[in-house]
Amino acid sequence: MIPVEPQSWHHGLVARWWSLFRDSGPEIAYFRQFVEAGQPALDVACGAGRLLVPYVEAGLDVDGCDVSPDMLAFCAQAAEAVGASPNLHCQAMHELDLPRRYRTIVVCGGLGLGSTREQDRLALRRLYEHLEPGGRLVLDNEVPYANATHWGLWPSGRRDGLPESPRPPGARRLGPDGDEYALATRLLSLDPLRQQEAWEMHAHRWHEGSLVAEERHRLTSNLYFCAELVMMLERAGFSEVEVRGEYNDAPPTADDSFLVYVATRT
Ligand SMILES: C[S@@+](CC[C@H](N)C(=O)[O-])C[C@H]1O[C@@H](n2cnc3c(N)ncnc32)[C@H](O)[C@@H]1O
Repeated sequence: MIPVEPQSWHHGLVARWWSLFRDSGPEIAYFRQFVEAGQPALDVACGAGRLLVPYVEAGLDVDGCDVSPDMLAFCAQAAEAVGASPNLHCQAMHELDLPRRYRTIVVCGGLGLGSTREQDRLALRRLYEHLEPGGRLVLDNEVPYANATHWGLWPSGRRDGLPESPRPPGARRLGPDGDEYALATRLLSLDPLRQQEAWEMHAHRWHEGSLVAEERHRLTSNLYFCAELVMMLERAGFSEVEVRGEYNDAPPTADDSFLVYVATRT
């Protein structure tokens, strides 16, 4: 098994890919209802602004925070393009220290990336501290058993094939700049005891048909089961923690790949 230090891949070409091609998804409308109901709001791990930019474009009072300066630069650019200039902060969530307090904090696809479990625990506490009394944290998290292939690697003896072999780049996508982009992802390691996966992403960029850039980035991801995350939120100080299904407000089911945790600071 390759030990991979906690790190995130949202830099360089990967950040550009997010800004160019990740602009839709059910999360945008789902998280928006919470932001509309409680402002000011903070989008933690806002990335290139997939959620934040449509929110500020609609006049909602939302600040952003992310650990990646590259993602934040794309976010600022996209916000500017819709005539908005939200407060954007470059901070890791476990060190969050902002001047404002919020009615709502959203974290979409951000918990457990490139961090240690201790940092995740600290992050939940920092999020709690940044809420006004009565404020809500809305956080999504993919369940560890979401991917049948990777879940099949948890028992002893099943991980001999790791790290997965490098793959050729996936389908090329044409950017608005006329260049083509493609990614190839592979699983490097899975540690069921530490509940952590490590991934590699190989990003490519072609200009007029010639490969002009290639980057390899790594990402560690901490995996959390529902009961564990509820307990962590309670330990962070939240008195009321509700779990909902995959962006549908229904009670969670065993078939949901993502769960949404709505935690209230009383
Ligand atoms: C999967 S992307 C999601 C971006 C955005 N929330 C969205 O849904 O489009 C994850 C983001 O989390 C950020 N991130 C990872 N670890 C973080 C940390 N410890 N603190 C703050 N942001 C972090 C990454 O830089 C990246 O922008």
